[in-house]
Amino acid sequence: MRTVVVTGGTDGIGKGLALHYLRQGARVVAVGSTPAKGASFLAEAASQNATFLRADLTSIAATKELLATIRRTCASLDTLVLCAQRYRLFGPRTTTREGFEHSFALAYLSRHILSHGLRDLMTPAPRPVIMNVGTPGVPLGRIHWDDLQLTRRYNGTRATLQSFRANDLLGVAFGELYGGEIRYVGYNPGVVSTGMPTHLPAPLRAAVRATFPLVATSVAKAVMPMTTLLEDPPAEAFSAYFTKRRLSLGGAAFDRDEAMRLHHLTQRLIDAGAPTLPSRP
Ligand SMILES: NC(=O)c1ccc[n+]([C@@H]2O[C@H](COP(=O)([O-])OP(=O)(O)OC[C@H]3O[C@@H](n4cnc5c(N)ncnc54)[C@H](OP(=O)(O)O)[C@@H]3O)[C@@H](O)[C@H]2O)c1
Repeated sequence: MRTVVVTGGTDGIGKGLALHYLRQGARVVAVGSTPAKGASFLAEAASQNATFLRADLTSIAATKELLATIRRTCASLDTLVLCAQRYRLFGPRTTTREGFEHSFALAYLSRHILSHGLRDLMTPAPRPVIMNVGTPGVPLGRIHWDDLQLTRRYNGTRATLQSFRANDLLGVAFGELYGGEIRYVGYNPGVVSTGMPTHLPAPLRAAVRATFPLVATSVAKAVMPMTTLLEDPPAEAFSAYFTKRRLSLGGAAFDRDEAMRLHHLTQRLIDAGAPTLPSRP
């Protein structure tokens, strides 16, 4: 039986994909931080093939615990979809349990840990695929190499955009490191009507919700091209899409050297378990 893990699988796009794969007869593990959302996902799924795992993916330790649980309970893994996200576009800089900037930790570090940490569980699957759902193809934001945790020039939009660009590079590095043994797809779903505005400040929340009927796709529609891609990803180790349009990997967002630089830096941060590295001897 096919096994699918979806982070952020209890809401929005992730939940749409999780329910789709349950209908297809797959075993689905949905990950989220709120038990009530997990319970409501299980009630809606009404399937013995559905599992909810609670994890706060802002934390490296919690992400590693999740890894261990998945490894203990799943003999192999076919499909990993990375959707967990909580935008903090406004307000003061916040840090996680281990001291990382919130967006860096949740939207990027957890995806790095899960992508690399589940790799050996996926390799034996017939057509393993990872989809990292973010905003490839949007030419905004950059990696702040001199201040990855944005301690000096924080604003929420800058932090969010940095985490998106880091995920573009995560896909490039994954493809470079492992070739096509697992297909890695960076995916931008466009504007999709989800609960995402719930966590925006009140005036913006109302404004975004008001525009959704005009510009946003429904979750049911948004997941259709995603499932097509997940069934038949391109042969290349890494590919990137904006809805159905395949993106060129020629731009700076997908620079190989920057990808490998970020990969090695991230590995060292994860090993240190803290946002600053011990100075090399
Ligand atoms: N919606 C759009 O228009 C749009 C556009 C471009 C890209 N995207 C990307 O698509 C993906 C899904 O977005 P969405 O709109 O479907 O989001 P959403 O409806 O807000 O759902 C987010 C999911 O992430 C989980 N989550 C949030 N914080 C978490 C944490 N600390 N630990 C574990 N899980 C956590 C949530 O569960 P809990 O609340 O229980 O934690 C929920 O299941 C994101 O990566 C987003 O960047 C969305």
